Parts: sequence; structure tokens; C-alpha cells
Amino acid sequence: MFKKVLILAVLISFVSCSSEFSEKEKQEYTVKGKEIAQATFKELSTNLMTQMKAGGPAQAIPFCNQEASPITEALSKKYNVEIKRTSNKLRSCDNDPSEREIEIMDSYEQLMLENKELKPIVEIDENQKKHFYAPIKIKANCLVCHGKVNETMTVETDSIIKSIYQFDIATGYTEGDLRGLWSITFNK
Ligand code: HEC
Repeated sequence: MFKKVLILAVLISFVSCSSEFSEKEKQEYTVKGKEIAQATFKELSTNLMTQMKAGGPAQAIPFCNQEASPITEALSKKYNVEIKRTSNKLRSCDNDPSEREIEIMDSYEQLMLENKELKPIVEIDENQKKHFYAPIKIKANCLVCHGKVNETMTVETDSIIKSIYQFDIATGYTEGDLRGLWSITFNK
């Protein structure tokens, strides 16, 4: 009996070990994830700001609509990962969150209520896929398109957004709010 329990315990620890990160791996994937999220943010925001300067929200919004996914797809290829931005208050249905992503956003919201620091999360799922998650927070220059209508965001901008995204609920934010999540899945 004891032997059986022992064998079982060894087996369980073996199985669970193989689906867990070593500390070293955890650090490596955290660094990689951060680098990819930053590069994607930079690419998206540089392009966005160019469009904003050229033609304001009326030009920048259709640009986001058409170019956000080709830009993230190109970077996904470059880094051999799948890059996703998601939110618990969605604008585009293309970015809808998985159950795990919702759980993580809920836990970040909770940490914010407790005034605690939000740290990236790396983990392995049941299919052995490695994931990186990190919070996306609202900065001052996001408010033109994600702010409070009639305060930090004009009614005109809101109506342009609503004409493309009828179900948009990604407004009403203030600086520092949790806007959503970077979710990066590694192919290896
Ligand atoms: C010119 C308007 C504009 C500005 C400025 C802007 N966004 Fe957006 N945002 C959009 C549009 C349009 C979408 C939907 C298309 C897409 O996927 O990017 C979007 C989508 C997103 C998404 C994906 C989740 C979802 O709800 O679909 C996140 C996250 C996001 N924005 C964060 C930000 C942050 C953070 C900033 C500031 C650094 C910012 N945005 C600035 C227009 C804007």
C-alpha cells in the first residue's frame, strides 16, 4: 500500500513538474514577453500618433480598425509568438478575452483596489503552451479615444468610434485605469 502511494506521489510530482516553469525559465519568458509587448506597443502607438497628427481621430480610428491586426500579426511572425491585446471592456470583438484572460484581469483589478503592484504573469497551460500576461494601463494620450465622452473625449470622436464598433464599451476611462491585457502565447 505504502509503495503504491509512493509510486503515485512520484508520478504526480513528475507530471506536475513537466508542466511547471523553473525559476530560470520563468525569468526568461518574462523578459521575452516584456520585450515583445513593448515593441508591439511602440509600433502601434508610433503609427497611431502619426495618423493623429495627420488627421486627428477621424483618420486615426479607421487606421486602428484596419491596421492594428496586421501590425500585431507581423510582429507575431517576427517573434514566433501569438500577440493579443484584450480587455474586460471591449471595443473590437476581434480582441475578445479567454476565460483565463478574464480571470487575470479580475485579479489585476483586485490588486489595484488593494494598491498593490501589478506584475506580469507567466505560466504553462494544459497543452504545454507557454503564456505571458501583463497589464495595459491608460495613459493621458489614450483618453482622446478611450476617455469620458464630453470631458476628455469629444462626442464627435465617440460617434466615429460607434459607427465602426457598435458594441464599443471601451470609454469612460481615466489615467492609470486598467485598460486590458497583453496576452502573448509562445510557439516554443
Ligand atoms: C485614435 C484613437 C485611439 C487612441 C488614441 C487609442 N486607442 Fe485603443 N483602440 C482604438 C481602436 C479603434 C481600437 C479597436 C481596434 C484595435 O484593435 O486596435 C482600440 C483598441 C484597443 C485595445 C484592444 C482591446 C479592445 O477593447 O478592443 C486596447 C488594449 C487599447 N485600445 C488600449 C489603448 C491604450 C493603452 C491607448 C493609449 C496608449 C490607446 N488604446 C489609444 C482607438 C484608439
